[in-house]
Amino acid sequence: MEVVLLPDADGAARTVAGIIERAIVDGVKTLGLAAGSSPLSVYRDLIRRHRHQGLGFAGIDAFLLDEYVGLPPSHPQSYAQVIRRELVDHIDLDPTRVHAPQGTASDLQQEARRFEHALTAAGPVGVQILGIGVNGHIGFNEPGSSLASRTRLKTLTDDTRRDNARFFGGIDQVPRHVITQGLATIGAASHLVLIATGPHKAHAVAAAVEGPVTAQCPASILQLHPHVTVVVDELAAARLEQQPYYRYIARHKPAGQGY
Ligand code: F6R
Repeated sequence: MEVVLLPDADGAARTVAGIIERAIVDGVKTLGLAAGSSPLSVYRDLIRRHRHQGLGFAGIDAFLLDEYVGLPPSHPQSYAQVIRRELVDHIDLDPTRVHAPQGTASDLQQEARRFEHALTAAGPVGVQILGIGVNGHIGFNEPGSSLASRTRLKTLTDDTRRDNARFFGGIDQVPRHVITQGLATIGAASHLVLIATGPHKAHAVAAAVEGPVTAQCPASILQLHPHVTVVVDELAAARLEQQPYYRYIARHKPAGQGY
């Protein structure tokens, strides 16, 4: 795992966008996309690279991490719609190659299996972008999620619903259920890139990166993966005990090593 400390959120977003660009240039054909607020500035930087530097997304398949149950893809807060509005509408990624669990499927268990199967068939995901919840969730794998889990139906904690109420009219409008990639599903991607910015993420980042591997902090599963880059701004890095070492690594990064 490499922990990359950047002075601010913009620098973190540029670094993650740079990792994705490098992967595409190197031939990666499958991307994993997160919704939520953390990756939005990454998506803006990818759009800029598409418009001004010729970064192309044709021929790429993208898989979303999760979706709210009960929201159709046309709902402004469905993750399918967020990804379309914030990224896909502005680049040459074929919308029919953007895959999301269907939150309005009549059989949600079957839909979770269908999505998992489609992802496995197209995968592995080359680069998976991740945000982290203040309780340490990735995807919508809340504390207690099996470290071996696959895509399935899950129930959000009220803390997560409260956090996400800012996107809705209030907590009552935040769905209680989701379909989310499991922790083992996420772990099957070749490269996991987590972005976290702001002081409210500091505790979760420290638990995920330097705490024990435990289902109580689902993001701690990153420690078991062979290729992880955690990109944080100073505020989200504040509780990391090994900060001096992470900075030392950055200062002495071998030329051409990349992320
Ligand atoms: C989103 C997702 C979630 C978010 C997390 C952080 O697809 O899977 O794990 O990444 O809830 O959300 P923000 O970035 O809004 O703080």
